Amino acid sequence: MCGIVGAVAERNVQEILLEGLRRLEYRGYDSAGLAVLSDDARLNRQRAIGKVAALEQRLHEAPLIGTVGIAHTRWATHGRPNEENAHPHQSGESLAVVHNGIIENFEPLKRELEGQGYVFTSQTDTEVVAHLLAREFNRTQDLLAAVQTVVATLDGAYALAVLHRAQPDVIVGARQGSPLVVGVGIGESFLASDPMALLPVTDRFIYLQEGDVVRIARGEPVAVFDRRGERQQRSVQTYEHGDGTVTKGGYRHFMLKEIHEQPQVIAAALEGRLSERHALIKSFGSEAEAVFAEARQIHIIACGTSYHAGLVARYWLERYAGIPTQVEVASEYRYRRVVVPEGTLFVTLSQSGETADTLAALRFARERGYLASLAICNVPGSSLVRESDLALMTHAGPEIGVASTKAFTTQLVALMLLTLSLGRLRGMDETRESEIVQALHGLPQAISQVLGLDGAIEELAMAFAEKEHALFLGRGAHFPIALEGALKLKEISYIHAEAYPAGELKHGPLALIDSDMPVISVAPNDELLEKLKSNLQEVRARGGELFVFADEAVALEEAEGVTVMRLAHIDEALAPILYTVPLQLLSYHVAVLKGTDVDQPRNLAKSVTVE
Ligand code: G6P
Repeated sequence: MCGIVGAVAERNVQEILLEGLRRLEYRGYDSAGLAVLSDDARLNRQRAIGKVAALEQRLHEAPLIGTVGIAHTRWATHGRPNEENAHPHQSGESLAVVHNGIIENFEPLKRELEGQGYVFTSQTDTEVVAHLLAREFNRTQDLLAAVQTVVATLDGAYALAVLHRAQPDVIVGARQGSPLVVGVGIGESFLASDPMALLPVTDRFIYLQEGDVVRIARGEPVAVFDRRGERQQRSVQTYEHGDGTVTKGGYRHFMLKEIHEQPQVIAAALEGRLSERHALIKSFGSEAEAVFAEARQIHIIACGTSYHAGLVARYWLERYAGIPTQVEVASEYRYRRVVVPEGTLFVTLSQSGETADTLAALRFARERGYLASLAICNVPGSSLVRESDLALMTHAGPEIGVASTKAFTTQLVALMLLTLSLGRLRGMDETRESEIVQALHGLPQAISQVLGLDGAIEELAMAFAEKEHALFLGRGAHFPIALEGALKLKEISYIHAEAYPAGELKHGPLALIDSDMPVISVAPNDELLEKLKSNLQEVRARGGELFVFADEAVALEEAEGVTVMRLAHIDEALAPILYTVPLQLLSYHVAVLKGTDVDQPRNLAKSVTVE
């Protein structure tokens, strides 16, 4: 999704801005641009469709020299991805703005501006903001005041960074519904939508709050104002989560690296959170025990892959902790008349902690009398974490591949810790609890073993490269794993894939089965296996080709059209985590064979900060 970088520096900013954009590339985008004020206060801009490398090439030919600048990677919402719609947007030759988010009332504002003679050169909502700011600046001759006045008229979500040639040492930023941080350097100040963009130049950040407007200026301290225009002291925090240097570490793609990191990050997600026999409730915060003791039901809200983690957790929470659980995608939940029974714990799941719908759902839930909110998230300091009562970090480390892998399995680990914590307070069988805890201790090793199947799965992938469709089947807690397997395949290989609970097969999808429709099924050795086996027969009888990931103990014979890949036995409670991994590898290898952009698939964004 869109990224913002800005700098008021003591050196040329082009390289700082470009490096910031490169570090935000993983979020997904379709064009990039930057605007720099030259020493004689002229505004120069360069934009390019496609990758940051294309922009870099243009800048190589015609560098932009200056110490104040703003930059952007765009993910199209209003108007096609092309150069005219790429940011920064200008009003005349004086003012430039970059914007993340969506201005919902841009149409009436645009009509008003056109009536006053402003000429638009793009289809974007952002250009409206550029002209509004220029109009206001002409009145006040002060960029801060102009931004404060204009943002009060905007509906929607935005993070903005603005500069004007008449105040050549100043950038003004604003945040409402889209993240923005200030990087505090030595004699230099920066803005970005994600601290990761600025780690080469600073590790000290001010996390702006909703409604904040900030002025960074040469030789002056950072000045933050709240939505009422009152000056606020916001604390400067040191970023302590590694230098953010994210490299592929010898792997061909970030996604493959992240799949292979799972044993380590799952160990990190468990570290300090398990005793010999129990999950430690305090991992969720010092008030967690009191809150959990009051919990009578759970609502889990998330989007995309995180939603699938929630669906798995529903099986666990009801089965092991005996607590009624509902799971819903955030974009639906936030517009529903929700009935909240007394004592309901509100849980959000998010890799980024900035997903617009999930954040909006949290804010919506705050007004609805929940017991408390808990965020399970991978990004410390993210909006979701800061706005929730309780939080548990998943410790997956930066995830760059747009298709989520290690973030998902660490979410599942966190959700199992939640299940055990609630289970303990609700009389879960102690023997079962300690069996699952033992299995969790062994999970990193079990995942390492599954990763050993990489070569075999790569061969298997060849059977999919020419296919246009695929069907994933699962039962019980493995139905969401089938959903996640199908999502991975469609995200990165563009093969149309669907997932069904295996028992639904004969109620429709069976009609699709023929020799062109590969069927993938996860068949761990659990109580549902026998039923699953008969579903598999239904597929085979219609000429469908079957690929089964099964427990080593399962009596399923390989035959013509039936490929069985065996995984070492694992406690059935943790099987959904283990069986995710071969499906990730399968999608990855199919995508590589198809030659798609694995880490940044078309049309998708890593962090969806607009509705
Ligand atoms: C985007 C990403 C998905 C992710 C979803 C939710 O669609 O491409 O990989 O699952 O957003 O993101 P979150 O950061 O809230 O987990």
